[in-house]
Amino acid sequence: MPDSLMPFCAAPHQFLLDTALKADPRFRMGDETFLVLSDPAAVHAVLNGKFDDFEKGAMVEIPRTFLHDGIIMVEVPEWTDQQKMIAPQFAGRRMRQLEPVIADLVTRQIDTWAALPAGEPVDLLAATNRLVFDIVATGMLSITDPAVADAVFETLVELDSTESVRLHYLLKRFGGGQGGFGRSSYAQAIERMQRLAAAIADERLARATQPDDFVGGVMATAAFAAFTPERKRAFLTDQISTMLTAGYVTTGETLFWGLYLLAKHPAQQQRARAEIAANTTAMSGAVPFDAPPFLMAAFNESQRLYPAVWFLGRVARRDVRVGDIDIAAGTRVMCSPYVLHRTPTLWPDSDQYRPERFLPGASHPVAPRSLIPFGTGMRACVGRGLALMEISAVACMTLSRFELELVSDAPIELTGAFSMHPRDTVMVRLKPLA
Ligand code: HEM
Repeated sequence: MPDSLMPFCAAPHQFLLDTALKADPRFRMGDETFLVLSDPAAVHAVLNGKFDDFEKGAMVEIPRTFLHDGIIMVEVPEWTDQQKMIAPQFAGRRMRQLEPVIADLVTRQIDTWAALPAGEPVDLLAATNRLVFDIVATGMLSITDPAVADAVFETLVELDSTESVRLHYLLKRFGGGQGGFGRSSYAQAIERMQRLAAAIADERLARATQPDDFVGGVMATAAFAAFTPERKRAFLTDQISTMLTAGYVTTGETLFWGLYLLAKHPAQQQRARAEIAANTTAMSGAVPFDAPPFLMAAFNESQRLYPAVWFLGRVARRDVRVGDIDIAAGTRVMCSPYVLHRTPTLWPDSDQYRPERFLPGASHPVAPRSLIPFGTGMRACVGRGLALMEISAVACMTLSRFELELVSDAPIELTGAFSMHPRDTVMVRLKPLA
């Protein structure tokens, strides 16, 4: 197998998609072998596979540098223990607690946009990212000091804007054996993020009483009480980093892509708006937390085309057979939502924006298990419910107040970052509706 470092780094998303469609969908970078799956049954078999067969392992080398032993990174049995402490913090009562926080922050964002001079364009992704960051920082972590929030946000923006997937594999090959991200500015941002998360953890550990939020909920568990002081600090630091990272860029980008595609397709935008207007909750001024069907279809379609988490997979811990595929121990098995969502045999007109394909009565019903923006199986996204609430609130409120118009219709180029965002800033005009 020839080494694919250069073609992979040149255009990682397209490279994975092209590889998946080959008779032998494997490739090699250095001494690592990758297998790219595009069959929903195989993808689900791996992501729902036994923990003895597949682990996150080396597939998460990049986020491990700053999420350390947070819940996204760890393997069983540690994951099982963490999940018991963390999953309840995403249950119904906690989500209802977040509703007023989301409503307040979304309303403030809408007011900010409404106060802009007529025709002034906005950097939509910067705005959606900051909005969902503030929801996590305020609602889940009770960060009240604006200087702390700004410092964390700026550091996260620096991490996200680095082409970390490209950088990681290039440094592995040409980094002079330093390992990791060496002394790059990315490595410095990781260290800064670590210090900031530790300071937030310290501040919480020093409090006599805890706010009733995500951190307070975790700290109230018997398992946390049994930790040593050092373990408490490390545990909180890693989970705070995890929530700030996993909870913001994914949702911010998903909101961006959903609104961007509606701005690009005025007829679908108008259909979504008309549906929201017919929804009495939205019209009465309350913030809606359940997206109506067409809006949901539009966001399913934007998540299909631009899934925030595209670099997803597992490492085979031993030789495994999945369907008729033999997977050798050590293989990095790519279960990329980007690949699955753009496989032409699963999706007619796979590159076209067609929200209608997700509505009842569509001419080509969506193939079962072919849409996985939140992953699947035991390790699927624990924050999905929160993300859907945020998507509904932001999209309904934005569309019912503004007409969205792209400043430029130029095609979008994707970066080689760990999450899915455009290389260049996308400016959008939000024109107040009469
Ligand atoms: C649209 C928004 C989101 C998307 C597309 C998304 C996507 C994903 C995906 C694909 C996974 C599975 C990773 C794997 O299998 O290796 C995952 C896991 C996870 N997500 Fe999300 N996510 C979103 C929002 C959130 C939010 C809002 C939070 C929390 C505030 C969150 C926290 C997590 C955590 C903690 C995990 C690890 C779960 C575990 O291993 O048990 N996510 N997410």
